[in-house]
Amino acid sequence: MTSREIRQKFLKFFEKRGHKIVSSSSLVPKDDPSVLLTTAGMQQFKPYYMGNKDPIKDFGTKRTTSIQKSFRTPDIDEVGDESHLTFFEMLGNFSFGDYFKEDAIKWGWEFITEELKISPERCHVSVFAGDPSTSSGQAVPEDKESKKIWKSLGLADDKIKKAGRKDNFWGPTGSEGPCGPTSEIYVDGLEIWNLVFNEYYCHADKTLEPLKQNGIDTGMGFERLAMVSQSAPTVFETDLFLPLVQIIPHKEILNETKAVRIIADHIRGATFLIADGVLPSNVERGYILRRILRRAIRYGKVLKLDKNFLIPLSQKVIEMYKEFYPELSVKREDILTVIEKEEEKFSKTLENGLKELGKILVAKADKIISGKEAFYLYESYGFPMELTREIATEKRFAIDETGWEIAFKEHQEISRAGAEKKFGGHGIAEITNHKSQITNSDAGKITRLHTATHLLHQALHDILGQEAEVRQMGSDINAERTRFDFTFPRKLFSEEINKIEEVVNKKIKLDLPVFNKKMNKEDAIRLGARAFFKEKYPDEVNVYSIGDPDPSKAYSKELCGGPHVDSTGEIGYFKIIKEESSSAGVRRIRAIIE
Ligand code: GLY
Repeated sequence: MTSREIRQKFLKFFEKRGHKIVSSSSLVPKDDPSVLLTTAGMQQFKPYYMGNKDPIKDFGTKRTTSIQKSFRTPDIDEVGDESHLTFFEMLGNFSFGDYFKEDAIKWGWEFITEELKISPERCHVSVFAGDPSTSSGQAVPEDKESKKIWKSLGLADDKIKKAGRKDNFWGPTGSEGPCGPTSEIYVDGLEIWNLVFNEYYCHADKTLEPLKQNGIDTGMGFERLAMVSQSAPTVFETDLFLPLVQIIPHKEILNETKAVRIIADHIRGATFLIADGVLPSNVERGYILRRILRRAIRYGKVLKLDKNFLIPLSQKVIEMYKEFYPELSVKREDILTVIEKEEEKFSKTLENGLKELGKILVAKADKIISGKEAFYLYESYGFPMELTREIATEKRFAIDETGWEIAFKEHQEISRAGAEKKFGGHGIAEITNHKSQITNSDAGKITRLHTATHLLHQALHDILGQEAEVRQMGSDINAERTRFDFTFPRKLFSEEINKIEEVVNKKIKLDLPVFNKKMNKEDAIRLGARAFFKEKYPDEVNVYSIGDPDPSKAYSKELCGGPHVDSTGEIGYFKIIKEESSSAGVRRIRAIIE
């Protein structure tokens, strides 16, 4: 059965049983700061389980069904085997205070064995064994009811396994939320479908409180389901992957097959993440995206693929999935540009780092890479530590991880001390430009926020400058946020704030280069460089220009001591979190980067 048929069959099956079909939510969760990415279908429905929102009002029923885009990072190192993925689609049916265990189990079984016609011989199930201990929280009783229901459907005792809290208790997503015991359906020994019986609310301190109403939350891995239903040996040989895998040139040998699977998984995930607005950066979601893109590029090297090999692969992903996820077509240009830029940027780093690592390996009789050597690659070549680890494992080398940690901590402390001393007033300070490719150190973040502040300053002029004079009245940057004060006579409208954010993020996405040159102060001012009137500048000043080395042609130019990022793409996603009055006629904006 094709995956298209499975999609339709699943949604129709539950629609016929009173469920409202709901579209997948974004991979970037809207109202749930406790999770970075959407990891399950139930996430968009959290408030309905808790009774905070009324499903009847929003869906006309207490039952919904969806096919949800999901992304799970804990499995990243498993990708390359038969069934693990980072990005995947999850089929689910949900009940908010409506049907419970009996229907959930009955319908799950009916769908698998009657709709998809998977033989019951190939299946077994599991139920929650109970957890009397309090080691991982409160005791939770055994789920005897589910076992009874499975037996009533004709499953023999030896087909109903029991498992504990680790395997058969699910949730919450993030730090708190609905959760409960589960019952799982396996086909050919592979876990396919997780039926969660939401009975509890798990608080941030891990205490469980019974929910006011029981809920059902099920999650079935679409790729795995396609695998067993299409009798494919791996998820990569289902029609959800095959057209993509087929255009990656490779030989059918172990390390090349693994490289192909990693590339296919990662480019698919990256394409979907960018479509949902994630940009490569050094923190949080942006870092996850950067990591999978860079890992895919590195495995491209294993296969000796041409430069820019990711572009046709991403185009293929868009083509395969755009019918079900129109955002891929809408964001097509963004997706390809972001991938191209990241590939360009990382290829050089990778080449140099690999050469250097090669030298280190040749010289080693003891087959141990010291912490200092690993740190040298990271610091001087921007070579990601996880790549050093991966290559070391492949070549059967060990890494002195403790040594690496010590070297890394020392470096962080030096950066932090430097940052505290030098950035207090966001004024002119001569400072050596200190950079690491993959680091979320405070100094790195302050530098990125600093460049973002210049973009913000210019964007304020762009959007508000027609109405009144925008003049910098102060600014302060720490590792959490930037704060910028400026003259403006009224509160900003939310549309204006959105526009300002949009302008800044556009400049970030364009990955504009940042230039820095010494100039005569009068010349700089004449060319339009912005200066902070409270600051006393020497005759010779440093000018930072974004977008062009010539300040008169640059998007932003300011008298400033730096440091700044090399290009705006390094900043990450820019977000204004507050706009308020600072004093009469002066507004204050606080913004963060993600
Ligand atoms: N929400 C059920 C699952 O993700 O397995």
